[in-house]
Amino acid sequence: MDSFVIEGPAKLSGQVRASGAKNAALPELFATLLTDEKCEISNVPELADIKSTLGILSYCGKRCSFFANKVSCLEQADIKTEAPYDMVRKMRASVLIAGPMLARFGHVKFAMPGGCAIGVRPIDIHLSAFSKMGAEVSFQGGDVILKSKKLKGAKINFKFPSVGATENVMMAACLADGESVIRNAAREPEIEDLATVLNKMGANILGAGSEIIKINGVKKLSGFSHEVISDRIEAGTFMIAASALNSEIAVYGARKEHLGILCRKLILSGAEIHNGRDHILVRAPQKIKPVSIYTGPYPLFPTDLQAQWMAYMSLAQGTCKIKENIFENRFMHAAELMRMGAKIELKGNVANVSSSKGLIGAPVMASDLRAGAALIIAAMAANGKSIIKRVYHIDRGYEKMEEKLFSLGASIKRVKE
Ligand code: UD1
Repeated sequence: MDSFVIEGPAKLSGQVRASGAKNAALPELFATLLTDEKCEISNVPELADIKSTLGILSYCGKRCSFFANKVSCLEQADIKTEAPYDMVRKMRASVLIAGPMLARFGHVKFAMPGGCAIGVRPIDIHLSAFSKMGAEVSFQGGDVILKSKKLKGAKINFKFPSVGATENVMMAACLADGESVIRNAAREPEIEDLATVLNKMGANILGAGSEIIKINGVKKLSGFSHEVISDRIEAGTFMIAASALNSEIAVYGARKEHLGILCRKLILSGAEIHNGRDHILVRAPQKIKPVSIYTGPYPLFPTDLQAQWMAYMSLAQGTCKIKENIFENRFMHAAELMRMGAKIELKGNVANVSSSKGLIGAPVMASDLRAGAALIIAAMAANGKSIIKRVYHIDRGYEKMEEKLFSLGASIKRVKE
């Protein structure tokens, strides 16, 4: 298990480029299961979750190569329509095999994903939509089995705009008979990027990026070539880091239309934001003002930036509230931040953050991906040395994090244990 050793306080300067979006690349890799033709995806970040997905695709019968951030997938053999527990437990997004497999082969068996560090994370929204489309849903020995002769288009109202369910159902509906309408669909930019891929494959999808998505089923989908959009969460993490570290940096690949609420909150905290053609320039505040946030589905404040915001706010002068509305257990980073001197009080899904006397380096533990990113920001802002353990969580979602931060001027080193 690797750790990061960070000496603070750091000041960042220069420019950095956000990698391709993990959360767009993952569903797009699963979309290759909808066709037997060659698919090419570029700007794919080299991350543990991507490698797990390629492992699942190979297990199912695809031959995938991954070189210089480009994935190329060919169908090699008869497709096995299953994902066993050992693969699913590594990465929850593997439930995204369900929609493509069910639509193309009429059958899929996959291990029911368990909970994780941030919450229970059920998949009822996915399953009830598939059953509305005519699939038979059963459970056996920890597996979910979905069967259907031919999926039928259906009118589906999501009780919550789940990102994964929107992607899964959109992929399934592409090869279903007739029209499907998803209401209360998730609107994240990654959904739009997936719809672009599916339309390149010959699907007929309208409205992705809005609350209502209409999909007219087609008989067959073809291969495609696509470049994944930049990772708005990675870009946002760098923007928060610069603001926390009294720094000025340019984040390339950051798009203001994907980061609207973060830009507004950073400006309220006193930071300056300048939009360039392919980058956002962030200049830190003289004094960080406290700014409350609550998380919600896009375009509200992303839960995937909540932990980083908490690290930032523990450096502010004054008090603010952080409310987590998406996941029930996403404050694991708070206790670690408190070990570094942050003043945080937790009440259910609300964290009250007040001014501290400054953060002090300490050994801490990343409990999940974004918690890890928050601890990196805190460690770079703190006085002295911090050791962040369980870096494998960070490696799941940030490509070359330490190299990028080092090139911006941070003192960060990976050590192997
Ligand atoms: C995706 C992102 C993740 C992000 C999350 C919320 C990927 C690979 N992951 O996860 O980084 O944190 O969106 O923006 O894109 N829910 C149910 N039933 C369901 C599905 C979801 O109750 O069937 C609940 C979840 O438990 C959670 C909430 O809905 O509380 C949001 O989940 P969802 O939007 O589905 O997140 P993911 O797609 O898993």
